[in-house]
Amino acid sequence: MRKRIVVGNWKMNMNNSAAHSLFQSLNNAEIVSSTKIIIAPPSVYLSGFSSNKSKNIYLAAQNCSDNENGAYTGEISASMLYSIGVGYSLVGHSERRQYQNESDLLLKQKINVLIENKVIPIFCCGENLDKRESGDFYKVIQSQLENSLFHLSNSEIKEVVIAYEPVWAIGTGVTASPGQAQEIHAFIRSLLVERYSLETAEEISILYGGSCNASNAKELFMNKDVDGGLIGGAALDVDSFSAIIKSF
Ligand code: 13P
Repeated sequence: MRKRIVVGNWKMNMNNSAAHSLFQSLNNAEIVSSTKIIIAPPSVYLSGFSSNKSKNIYLAAQNCSDNENGAYTGEISASMLYSIGVGYSLVGHSERRQYQNESDLLLKQKINVLIENKVIPIFCCGENLDKRESGDFYKVIQSQLENSLFHLSNSEIKEVVIAYEPVWAIGTGVTASPGQAQEIHAFIRSLLVERYSLETAEEISILYGGSCNASNAKELFMNKDVDGGLIGGAALDVDSFSAIIKSF
């Protein structure tokens, strides 16, 4: 059974006191929901949040190293994340693909190291505006999945969460229409059926991200193949994030 999941990606926002106060508000909100709630704060806060979180909140890193450990100044390993109780990590967010030049091959290595260390990857894929306008977006998404993810075994891929985040919708206020989101989610699921099996495809949660907020979450989450959201800006406010979680 696919899980419903809402992830709050705080990106590089919030100083120490603001971050702790938002996290405390989320902890105290006691959101009654069968939806899995995952927070991805800047990594400096992960350890502190991990020792103070309520049991219905899970933590994700926004990134991790593609190496196991060693002389990689500034990097954080998957085993370190696991050791402080962080169960998830984003991989391949478009901002990292763009600003850190992360390649499909690098992301494949990150996926491997995360799985070896029992941290669940939340793999992000999505096309930019040019590819949307030229109609090449199916090809982009397919190659991102094939190059970084589809080497996994059947049992490994079942652990992964996939997030479709069209780059043109991230932080722009332009959301994919429910129809556009459903079309791509169904396409991703069909690729999973082809590469693995229907049974496997039906176990993998596919989240939508890109200007998802309290007003549009319901119509996005209503779609058959949309299993939740990866939320940026609207995750920085406890009321809007709680409203999104309750939008199923
Ligand atoms: P926004 O919700 O701010 O568009 O960001 C989406 C995103 O990039 C989440 O990872």
